[in-house]
Amino acid sequence: MSAREFLDTGIPGLNEILGGRGIPKYHTILVAGGPGSGKTTFSIQFLYAGATLHGEPGVYISTDEAIDHLKMNMSPFGFDLDKLEKEGKLTIVDISPVRYVAPGSTAMRRAGTFDIGRKDFEMRKLRQEIRRTVSEIGAQRIVVDPVSILQLRYPEESQRHYELIDLVQALAISGCTSMLTTELLGTGLEREHQFEEYLSHGVILLRTMIKGDRLIRALQVSKMRGLNVDVEPRPYRITDTGIEVYPKEKVL
Ligand SMILES: Nc1ncnc2c1ncn2[C@@H]1O[C@H](COP(=O)(O)OP(=O)(O)OP(=O)(O)O)[C@@H](O)[C@H]1O
Ligand SMILES: [Mg+2]
Repeated sequence: MSAREFLDTGIPGLNEILGGRGIPKYHTILVAGGPGSGKTTFSIQFLYAGATLHGEPGVYISTDEAIDHLKMNMSPFGFDLDKLEKEGKLTIVDISPVRYVAPGSTAMRRAGTFDIGRKDFEMRKLRQEIRRTVSEIGAQRIVVDPVSILQLRYPEESQRHYELIDLVQALAISGCTSMLTTELLGTGLEREHQFEEYLSHGVILLRTMIKGDRLIRALQVSKMRGLNVDVEPRPYRITDTGIEVYPKEKVL
């Protein structure tokens, strides 16, 4: 049995919370948070660090944000996504129209290259697209942001679960380390766990907590298979350079 390898998360403070070395290679990590909690910034930061610091190209699949908006929103943090695309270190796949069209049809297109066109939306096509883009640039990291939008396509719970299982399987056989983002439905400590949490190898929660009369952003690693991690909520901030976690500070 060979020793486990790890990937730098690119988020200052997070590797320390994870035991010092980052995310176990080939894991599928779920990043769950409320609106504006920083899920997109978090996942782009993960891809950016891989592409710029470690020679690990990445694929980003956007399900809810048009690519122009994504690029515009990420550039103040210093994430030049155009440059990475030109250098062949990043591929952005836009399936965002999924939310605007009736069930049974959608448009899937690739940023800046060509239009795949309107087609019946199937997870099968998304899985094919994952395979193709990963092999095209030799990707080692992949993000689907957010996966909760895809689930809207499948109102029936058991069908939704099967589709998610298939997606996670497709990510696993892609040979990449993956990150899925999702909306965090309950915020309290007593909340019900979501199906994606059971399915993923690791879960990172981005929550808002109340301390005295203040609201504090808190990051909590609630699960990371095979690793002894710090499960305490730790404060994080969204700064001019992206997300930063403070592994020695307490929230509660
Ligand atoms: N320079 C900055 N400093 C501090 N906060 C910032 C900065 N730039 C953006 N933000 C905050 O980051 C948040 C947006 O982050 P992001 O888009 O990653 O969140 P998200 O969880 O993906 O949101 P959504 O649920 O809408 O997809 C916003 O709440 C915004 O106020
Ligand atoms: Mg987002």
